[in-house]
Amino acid sequence: MSDVKRDDEAATIPAQNTGGGRADGEVLLKVTGLQKHFPIKKGLLQRQVGAVHAVDGIDFEVRAGETLGVVGESGCGKSTMGRLITRLLEPTAGKVEFEGKDITHLGVAGMRPLRRDVQMIFQDPYSSLNPRHTIGTIVGAPFKLQGVEPEGGIKKEVQRLLSVVGLNPEHYNRYPHEFSGGQRQRIGIARALALNPKLVVADEPVSALDVSIQAQVVNLLDDLQQELGLTYVIIAHDLSVVRHVSDRIAVMYLGKIVELADRDLLYKTPMHPYTKALMSAVPIPDPRRKAEKSERILLKGDVPSPIAPPSGCRFHTRCWKATEICRTTEPPLLELRPGQRVACHHPENFEDQQPQDTVLLTAAKEASELVPDEVLAESAETSAAVAAEVAPAKASAPAEATPADAAPAADTTAEPAADTTVEPAVDAEPVAKADPAAAAAPAAEADPAVEAEAPAAPDAPAAPEAPAKEK
Ligand SMILES: Nc1ncnc2c1ncn2[C@@H]1O[C@H](COP(=O)(O)OP(=O)(O)O)[C@@H](O)[C@H]1O
Ligand code: SF4
Ligand SMILES: [Mg+2]
Repeated sequence: MSDVKRDDEAATIPAQNTGGGRADGEVLLKVTGLQKHFPIKKGLLQRQVGAVHAVDGIDFEVRAGETLGVVGESGCGKSTMGRLITRLLEPTAGKVEFEGKDITHLGVAGMRPLRRDVQMIFQDPYSSLNPRHTIGTIVGAPFKLQGVEPEGGIKKEVQRLLSVVGLNPEHYNRYPHEFSGGQRQRIGIARALALNPKLVVADEPVSALDVSIQAQVVNLLDDLQQELGLTYVIIAHDLSVVRHVSDRIAVMYLGKIVELADRDLLYKTPMHPYTKALMSAVPIPDPRRKAEKSERILLKGDVPSPIAPPSGCRFHTRCWKATEICRTTEPPLLELRPGQRVACHHPENFEDQQPQDTVLLTAAKEASELVPDEVLAESAETSAAVAAEVAPAKASAPAEATPADAAPAADTTAEPAADTTVEPAVDAEPVAKADPAAAAAPAAEADPAVEAEAPAAPDAPAAPEAPAKEK
């Protein structure tokens, strides 16, 4: 969320000050060939009969100080990706490097410093806070778990954190149910910041909130980034939020990154047909562009099952440009333009990579249709609200955010699940290799080191035979 995030179409957004070395910062996190396959087991013997290809070989990097937005429909593997890079899940294959260090298979001790540096904010501010704990306990848990006494005491530090996120420090002794959704998400943010992290992975941080509140929380994240020099990976199911706050955007489809580009390039010249379809679902609140309505595309049908993804290009069953080669050959993610990587045989806004292959697949002819306005309205509302909120606040210094001093570190990522009464063990083995009886309780794979990844997490998947959809 740096200076580069001006919206060309949102002319009212003032130019922002430079956040200092943002998008060209050094690589903080690097992911290579990252994979997560959740095994599907059946029968008394729990034999593996298949796997959910939740994340299926992705490569990207996150640079210090930038915001990488990650978008894609429900079930395409965004949350799994977030949990892999925060090491709440053990990858099936691939490599995760943080500050140049391979952290893919680190054990508990090796992970401890990383737990301070990498934090996660969860989607659902209702299930991610333990209702039996006061917010003082919740936000102070990281210090307790680590056995660290911040200067001035935990209470003082927690109160400072509460005011940093715009909450009343006097409310230290209140319980989560006494707060609204937006306030609860602020509590979650305060908890994530307690350890003074370098990287914050926010998994749909505002999608459970009202549109007006969404904008405030996005704005808070943005302010905090400027104040604290944070690096973000922000996950969202459409572009309405990330378009305003990201420096670069990765578009995911069925466990793959299909396009990864600088924000402005992605908006001006999207190259992957799926990106174009996603963008069509976020109309631009600009009357001059009304005429472009006819170009909006609504994808038909659901995302295919990640248990048996389509051959070749996974998008070929829904793509209006699909030809034979799309069905047979997987397109590699190539940098077709500086700052823009795309995996497509027939990209938009660029020369065709397979010009000889011109016969459309039958599926292509029915792949999309024009979007009715009502489908677009909600997304437009969010988009406009976030744009309006992010812009003015940038112009004036945020009142509620004060720079955080280096907070002593603790060792937690998430508050215990709603009905967990015990504090999660700090030393819980972070690598849950043993695949749980996946058929019965796939969510159990969320490993203990998650330090209490809430089982009630909104996107806890259903049985793998029928992968859950979020909505
Ligand atoms: N622990 C798990 N066990 C089995 N399948 C899972 C598990 N977690 C996620 N999945 C499946 O992996 C796919 C990707 O899920 P997820 O990463 O939550 O997607 P998103 O966040 O993009 O909606 C989905 O099909 C989901 O059902
Ligand atoms: S044109 Fe082909 S390769 Fe490109 S997105 Fe469509 S199906 Fe995939
Ligand atoms: Mg998710």
